[in-house]
Amino acid sequence: MIRARITGTGHFLPKQVYTNFDMEELCETTDEWIRQRTGIIQRHIADEGWGVSDLMLPAAQQALEMANLDPMDLEMVICATITPDHMLPATGSLIQDRLGAKNAGGFDINAACSGFLYSLGTASSMIQSGLVKNVLICGGELVSNRINWKRRDTAVLFGDGAGAVVLEADDTGHGVLSTYLRSDGAGKEVLWVAENGSKEPLTHENFRDGRLDIQMKGPELFKRAIIEFSDSIKRAFNDSGVKPEELGLFVPHQANERIMVGAAERAKIPVDKVYMNIAMTGNTVAASIPIALDQANRKGLISKGDYVLFAGFGAGLTWGSAMVKW
Ligand code: UT7
Repeated sequence: MIRARITGTGHFLPKQVYTNFDMEELCETTDEWIRQRTGIIQRHIADEGWGVSDLMLPAAQQALEMANLDPMDLEMVICATITPDHMLPATGSLIQDRLGAKNAGGFDINAACSGFLYSLGTASSMIQSGLVKNVLICGGELVSNRINWKRRDTAVLFGDGAGAVVLEADDTGHGVLSTYLRSDGAGKEVLWVAENGSKEPLTHENFRDGRLDIQMKGPELFKRAIIEFSDSIKRAFNDSGVKPEELGLFVPHQANERIMVGAAERAKIPVDKVYMNIAMTGNTVAASIPIALDQANRKGLISKGDYVLFAGFGAGLTWGSAMVKW
């Protein structure tokens, strides 16, 4: 049986850092509140003039290098992002070009914080069907220039960064064992940017302050995240046949330390098997799982044959999970 196996990982975080104490200067907040409610200590911020493809490119190059895959042999690029370089064209095409991957297709997936999981499901299906032999997924986000730094309810949460994985066809039993992807658009206003799409195009005439901000009903999202995270984890175990005690590592979307720990406890996953980097990165949306995965991989926390679980939740609403045999 052909499966999509992860053969390379990479990540990139811009050098500039805003600590919680920097945030105290920007909005009415405290280091203590941010740490206690979210687990965040600092977030990385891209330089002015950068686009998300500038963050994705080095992550992609690292992943290709680890996979020992020449860009000319790459067949597909999928970019998971809510902050593409441009409205048009897709960032997938830009990364394909910047890598010199002349024989690859490229497109984007917008599923917010679940974007990496949706991309993994798509890439896995493409490989299993025989459409392509390999796929590069880049999960990247440059949210800092979209944030209203005066809004403490969202400003303290997010950070910039990118992660990447290379998937290749494999027939040795390793690779993506299951993916579970769900959505509930009735919750669209729980986390959204109202303006600048086709429904409310941004013009000088209709500009209304606040409609371009990321708006979030935090506590509503928190409750829903705990429920759907837990359900997604259960699905991953059921669909893959892996037992919780066999799990090597859980790499969740990094939205809130309390959500990650709560979901792990409900699923009877020991907290030392949960990879968390939210303290140093904040919530990097579609980039969070692949950044965490690459860090864990390069620290030697994943060995061949280990079962690795991913789960995420975010705007849409969207959520899901995946189980991988390393
Ligand atoms: O990645 C996509 C998915 N995202 C999520 O899943 C996020 C889910 N939600 C959360 O993680 C949490 O709801 C937050 C971290 C966003 C907020 O934590 P919370 O414990 O739910 O706080 P809250 O929104 O209920 O606010 C509690 C208090 C409020 O003040 P009052 O009404 O009690 O006086 C807020 O106004 O904290 C206040 N507050 C803040 N205070 C200091 C809200 N934001 C801040 C802040 N600094 N940054």
